[in-house]
Amino acid sequence: MGGAFAEYVKVPATVCSKIPNNVSIVKMASLPTAGLTALQALVTYGKITSGEKVLINGASGGVGHFAVQIAKAYGAYVTAVCSSRNADFVKSLGADKVVAYDTENIHQHNGSYDLIIDANGNLTYADYKRMGKRGVMIGFTTMGHMFSTLINKLFGNFPLIQFTVESNTNDMQTLAELVAQGKVKPQIEKLFSYKEIPEAISYIEAMRTKGKVVMQWIDDQNQTVSSNNLTNVPF
Ligand SMILES: NC(=O)c1ccc[n+]([C@@H]2O[C@H](COP(=O)([O-])OP(=O)(O)OC[C@H]3O[C@@H](n4cnc5c(N)ncnc54)[C@H](OP(=O)(O)O)[C@@H]3O)[C@@H](O)[C@H]2O)c1
Repeated sequence: MGGAFAEYVKVPATVCSKIPNNVSIVKMASLPTAGLTALQALVTYGKITSGEKVLINGASGGVGHFAVQIAKAYGAYVTAVCSSRNADFVKSLGADKVVAYDTENIHQHNGSYDLIIDANGNLTYADYKRMGKRGVMIGFTTMGHMFSTLINKLFGNFPLIQFTVESNTNDMQTLAELVAQGKVKPQIEKLFSYKEIPEAISYIEAMRTKGKVVMQWIDDQNQTVSSNNLTNVPF
């Protein structure tokens, strides 16, 4: 959906859902793209079922931190890959096991998984085949990596899906219910004022976000916040 930095934006009703009571618009604003991507990767394309072993690569970022919580809500045993500095954060989201990519080479990891979700985008086709029964690619680190993985997928027989997220009310409603039930808690690392949009984009481009960042239509300076403080934001 274009126009994300506008103060008002007109959208079709078919991509909307009601914000649950007692959850701030700030938290819910962090949800649609990253949350829908995580949900569709796991459920629509990954066909996750309860009891499955799921690997989530890039588990501490926007998409990944939602994916960890959604996979747990669907009853999976979750192994999460992130840097060691974010291991405790990802465990606090419910991950059963954490693999820190800066202490263990994920390209030599020998785990065995029903479903592999790559939110970071550095897993190779060989990684998917070695570790998984099926896989969903969300992001890519480089164009070369993207082409190499897709060409291998074309000529190989591993069930690997690459998709682009699409908004729809059903999925938005599912996410809203997971939030209302407390099964998914959006984690907001930073709030930016609309005056700081370039800084916010630079921050996102570094791809070291812990959870999400949100832009607010206020004049405040950039501030680091505890997501617990956002519940009663008066919007
Ligand atoms: N297919 C779609 O429709 C769709 C939709 C939305 C987003 N995307 C794509 O999905 C990707 C992720 O988006 P995002 O918003 O979640 O990004 P993000 O918030 O920047 O998160 C990236 C995460 O990757 C982790 N990471 C960095 N290097 C890693 C490595 N070597 N191995 C494993 N994890 C590593 C980082 O963890 P640490 O900080 O712990 O290092 C960070 O938490 C992007 O490429 C984006 O373009 C695709």
